[in-house]
Amino acid sequence: MEKSRNISEDFIQKAMAAANSMRRDELLFSYKGTLYPTTICSPETFKALESFEVRSDDVILAGYPKSGTNWLSQILTDLIAISQKKTPGSESSLNAEEQKEIAYLEVGDAKKYERMTRLPSPRFLASHLRPENLPKSIFKNNAKILLLIRNPKDVATSFYHFSNGIVFLPSYETWNDFFTDFMTKKMAWGCYFEYISEWNKYADKENIMTITYEEVKENPALSVKNIATFFGIPLTEEELQLVLERSSFQSMKKNSDKTHGPIANALFRKGGVSDWKNLFSEDQSEKMDKAFEEHIAGTKLGKKLKYDLYCKA
Ligand code: A3P
Repeated sequence: MEKSRNISEDFIQKAMAAANSMRRDELLFSYKGTLYPTTICSPETFKALESFEVRSDDVILAGYPKSGTNWLSQILTDLIAISQKKTPGSESSLNAEEQKEIAYLEVGDAKKYERMTRLPSPRFLASHLRPENLPKSIFKNNAKILLLIRNPKDVATSFYHFSNGIVFLPSYETWNDFFTDFMTKKMAWGCYFEYISEWNKYADKENIMTITYEEVKENPALSVKNIATFFGIPLTEEELQLVLERSSFQSMKKNSDKTHGPIANALFRKGGVSDWKNLFSEDQSEKMDKAFEEHIAGTKLGKKLKYDLYCKA
């Protein structure tokens, strides 16, 4: 049976059980001024992460929650398998140790980094953290990072539905309540605008490639080719087609019970662009436009988001 390398079922099951018996206000904790889910992150793990040694050939995905990180994880793990002459998705494409680890760096127990030293290269690592909270070795060792960004209105929409679909996060009675929290830095993993602003400081670095959710959606073949080139992975036409087929929304959703177990339904929702139009009031839309203008419109990443195209009615 195909297993995702992004999920460790045991860990997630335990976290879900713990979250079920928590009060809403206990579900998030603050670490260095940012909120994180109590049941899947911990101060001990963050402390241990600081000294984690990233390798120069690790394949790293960075993205704010709900930017499509599970989608790009699928693409990247398949590309890694291809680079190792393995068949993506086959039993042999991941060894048992790799299957056990959660790829999201900040999620899991504090001992995971020790276990991860035993994983063969290239390792796949993902994270929702801002760059200053990642281990210093990422930048010291010049590991390549794919930075995934998505327009803020669809991110907020996706985050709202996710918060109501998963027990790790506080749920919301109304979209209006969620919107207020999203705009006032009360989200797990922190504020979207600060995330983009901080990553913008790294956007010109040679070892960072930025891609938007919308451009992968628009032209998946070109996006996968560009990603493969960035990581130095040669691809035949047949391999490209296989990666595309396996990473389509339909096929990922269909397989999601197997690959993502109990959180599958919450993760693979609509997989499209502009669903924000079903939730945002005119006033909320204007508030978001203003925040975008103030914080990121003038930056390189801000321009890459093509805000006018995807976020104006
Ligand atoms: P929606 O809630 O808008 O549907 P993340 O993986 O970072 O949590 O992001 C989740 C978002 O990515 C969800 O957005 C989800 O449906 C979308 N997604 C997941 N797999 C996808 C795919 N193969 N193609 C397009 N979107 C995908």
